[in-house]
Amino acid sequence: MPISPARTAAFDILLRIDQQNAYVSELLHSSRMEALSPADRALTTELAMGVLRWRSRLDEKLAAASGRPPTKIDAEVLTALRLGVYQLQFLSRIPAHAAVNESVELVKRAHKRSAAAFANAVLRKIGVAEIEPPSDLIQWTASTLAREFAHPEWLVQRWVQAYGVDRTYSICRHDQCIPNTAIRLDSAEDERELAGEGGVELAPGALLAAARIVVSGEITRTRAFQEGRVFIQDEASQLVAALVGRGSRLLDCCAAPGGKTAALAARNPTAEIIAAELHPHRADLLRRRVRAANVQVIQADALNLPAAGGFDRVLADVPCSGTGTLARNPEIKWRLKPEDLVDLHEKQVAILRAALRQLAPGGRAVYSTCSLERAENEAVIEEVLQGEHEYELLDCREQLERLRSSGELVWDDLELLLRGQFLRTIPGLQPCDGFFAGVIERR
Ligand SMILES: C[S@@+](CC[C@H](N)C(=O)[O-])C[C@H]1O[C@@H](n2cnc3c(N)ncnc32)[C@H](O)[C@@H]1O
Repeated sequence: MPISPARTAAFDILLRIDQQNAYVSELLHSSRMEALSPADRALTTELAMGVLRWRSRLDEKLAAASGRPPTKIDAEVLTALRLGVYQLQFLSRIPAHAAVNESVELVKRAHKRSAAAFANAVLRKIGVAEIEPPSDLIQWTASTLAREFAHPEWLVQRWVQAYGVDRTYSICRHDQCIPNTAIRLDSAEDERELAGEGGVELAPGALLAAARIVVSGEITRTRAFQEGRVFIQDEASQLVAALVGRGSRLLDCCAAPGGKTAALAARNPTAEIIAAELHPHRADLLRRRVRAANVQVIQADALNLPAAGGFDRVLADVPCSGTGTLARNPEIKWRLKPEDLVDLHEKQVAILRAALRQLAPGGRAVYSTCSLERAENEAVIEEVLQGEHEYELLDCREQLERLRSSGELVWDDLELLLRGQFLRTIPGLQPCDGFFAGVIERR
């Protein structure tokens, strides 16, 4: 029996994520996806993202029906079973026989013929009874939040400690939904073009005047996007770039894929901007994406930059766990381990120290992550500034007030964007990813 292209593609994507540590956002924008019909692309995305978002709930069902823990099931068989349970229990429009039969065929396609009868029996036993949606009446704890919203408990426990139960509930709920697609617009002309020939419907952004939310239409197929005039960029990421402000020499020391570099270039069209990226293939991607004439892309380690220093603005948007972006990157939650946060912290401290050395006296650095973890955020800045008299932590409130009075920031409640002296967006409290930023000035 032939298997639908969407289920085959979703199966291959999920297996690569599991076995090769691949990223779902990259695989869903590969040339293979381009070759699918729009309907198949949409179903592939729904299946891959759905399985990743709800993985522990699906595994719970599988373990109960099969009598085996998921760790005792071959990766190919487990992937086909997860796809089957997801369709049976979350996608009511898909007939049960299609969900079961195609998962069984996927098992055979993966040369696991001997497991086909097992897969068939397990999926038939599970059937179509829908997974109960998380109830609003529950007295939530870290453990019930983790179970109901399919997150690792150790991570949810950290969030409950840092943000309290109510905010953690908002984060977990947000992570299980399809996030909006935001773009940054530099001109009203581009907006007219998108609406006209591009057929893209846009709504105003919630945080920034230059942001729009894509309501319908395929933004990646428009000329404005392909020519690099319009960028897909979460509103919180746009806000971090706005915090960097204006200068005449700017350094973006961890720059790929370049959303923030492009925003810095738009805001500082006559400045000299150096954008550094460690990995050669990502530096190439950065060159392709950011075509502003005043940006020089260099492939270099932020710890050892060939630049001469003396920058009046530096952005250190460091590599991080990405726990503020789980609605877009749900595979992260199953991959991340507590000890990774320790390694990331060390790397982040080293990059921030090196970034500060690039500042001219009176210059400012923005340190940012898309992580919700204190260890990657406040704790990094505290460690770097401890005993340092040359640098001063500024209050983000002043920077946000400045952006609001210039009309760039349109979000009203500044308190919700601040945590102490830092910028802190929380997914679910604001309609955006969870970003953190701190501003440091060299005296
Ligand atoms: C969070 S991402 C940056 C996102 C980017 N600022 C944007 O808005 O599109 C961090 C980037 O830093 C790069 N990176 C990691 N370690 C680095 C280092 N030591 N020096 C320079 N770049 C590094 C990673 O490859 C990754 O592309």
